[in-house]
Amino acid sequence: MVRLKIFLAFIVLPISALAQGLLINAANRNSVSLNGDWNYIVDPYETGYYNFHSEVYDQKNPGSPSAFYNNYHAKNKSELVEYDFDKSPVLRIPGDWNTQKGNLFYYEGTVWLKKSFDYRLKTEKRVFVYFGAINYKAEVYLNGKKIGMHEGGFTPFNFEITSVIKDKGNYLVVKVDNKRFKEAVPTTNTDWWNYGGITRDVLLIEEPAVFIQDYSVQLKKGNRAGIAGFVQLNNTGKDEKITISIPELKIEKKIEVADDGKAVFELDVPPKINYWSPESPKLYTVFIKSAYQTLKDDIGFRTIETKGSDIILNGKSIFLRGICMHEEINGRRANSRVDAIKLLTWAKELGCNYVRLAHYPHSEYMVQMADKMGLMVWEEIPVYWTIDFNKETTYSNAKNQLTEVVTRDKNRAAVIIWSVANETPLSEARNLFLINLIKHTQTLDTTRLLSAALLTRNEKGVGIIDDKIGVHLDIISFNQYMGWYGGDLKTAPNAQWTTPYNKPVVVSEFGGDAKQGLHGPKEERWNEEYQEYLYQQNLLMIERIPNVRGISPWILTDFRSPRRLLPGVQNGFNRKGLISDKDKKKKAFFTLQTFYKKIALQYK
Ligand code: GCU
Repeated sequence: MVRLKIFLAFIVLPISALAQGLLINAANRNSVSLNGDWNYIVDPYETGYYNFHSEVYDQKNPGSPSAFYNNYHAKNKSELVEYDFDKSPVLRIPGDWNTQKGNLFYYEGTVWLKKSFDYRLKTEKRVFVYFGAINYKAEVYLNGKKIGMHEGGFTPFNFEITSVIKDKGNYLVVKVDNKRFKEAVPTTNTDWWNYGGITRDVLLIEEPAVFIQDYSVQLKKGNRAGIAGFVQLNNTGKDEKITISIPELKIEKKIEVADDGKAVFELDVPPKINYWSPESPKLYTVFIKSAYQTLKDDIGFRTIETKGSDIILNGKSIFLRGICMHEEINGRRANSRVDAIKLLTWAKELGCNYVRLAHYPHSEYMVQMADKMGLMVWEEIPVYWTIDFNKETTYSNAKNQLTEVVTRDKNRAAVIIWSVANETPLSEARNLFLINLIKHTQTLDTTRLLSAALLTRNEKGVGIIDDKIGVHLDIISFNQYMGWYGGDLKTAPNAQWTTPYNKPVVVSEFGGDAKQGLHGPKEERWNEEYQEYLYQQNLLMIERIPNVRGISPWILTDFRSPRRLLPGVQNGFNRKGLISDKDKKKKAFFTLQTFYKKIALQYK
């Protein structure tokens, strides 16, 4: 325990953790979009950030015309200025730069992006700039003033700009740097494309002086008769009153606000409530009113628990008929509601009631659409493979990303599992790191389940799932690649597995590559028949794994990876998708679809 205390004592908060509290439910707030064309400058030597002696402009000489965030224009023909945003090309935002510009396909480094806009701020109002995500590191400037930084490529953040914004001629400049580095989260080694850029929406959000910053409205854990929650004002207003109303349930309740701006409440649930489930994804319109504003959200009410080896949704044992997904479509970063609907519709067509959003938080559109379409969700942070478990800043970064995704999605009934890791190698430091993340998550959200995609070991031909951190997890999930990275598909159905845990087991990954349209004998790797046979044999094996209560095969669609280079087959894509990057289904898609039809009947 002493080591744990010492470890925790030295955790240094990254700057991003000091950013203002997240404005949750951003899409339903009073906002103006800054999506669209942004001028960009590719800056591999960070000329716009450091002077020629490598001193940082915004510390050494903030007003320097050479600092790109000053968006300077030469005043006359003889003045020396070596950049000009307004004469520079544009990128569509939201969107990664790799697939918009051929010469940026492999680019990893700094790109500056600039958006000019006018804004008339009403009196007594406050204004924030909100980013859905920027991969990987962002330094944000408005009108030449640094307003904040953020690290982490897949979670939202915002900064107040009330004191800096002008009526006319604002220039918002963002330094985006997607260079990989050892201490980052993820680290330098991943099996996905390092899409750089402002990859999700940018909004200007206008709020009253005292506004609703955060809230949670959820069923209590294991109690379908009681809603519990809180509303957090960003400021303390004198004698503030908050009203929570759910008209369809004839609920309306006034709640007191404490001095710290927090209002905690409990609501009795009428007996006729429709609980949220994949079969009936009922959402209720919830209104949260303060003296100065009303926020609306569509919230589902359900309980999710485990009991022995069962996963219990609304009191009923379920099987997670899942599929893994990257946030990618047709070879680019997915970034819109349309992209989310397309990907999740394929999952529904497969017969899924569940999706594993790998290996990082996906866009808010994904979880909002999962709420509406009836798909349970596993969300995870990119604590992936060999991150630097010994580095305090790596831990505080991972903790911050987890905090940001839980803060954003804690009102989404579809989200049932938070995952803290994927295939991380065993070590004392790794165990401590993950246990701390698990404990931190439990302080943020007591209603959802915790898991991680673990590795297994093999003893005398028996697969053993006994990772030590399983003690701290609700669901024991593991990845296995029988028939792709080893093992014999012919004998796979008789393979033996064992686990010491009396907890639900989920096979969080299995699969194999197939080039869509390549056909041949099922013994030949890379063709569709091989992938189909791999699924047939793995599914027979998985049904015999003790306590198995779910699977999420790897993966819905082919996706770009710099590791997958076989000419004529992979060409820079991981081909384990059941659907190609050109939207073509492979034979194994229908194998899994048939299996899920059978499972759905068993769990009716
Ligand atoms: C790993 C990993 C995935 C990877 C997959 C593969 O288990 O979790 O990110 O893409 O297997 O090798 O295709």
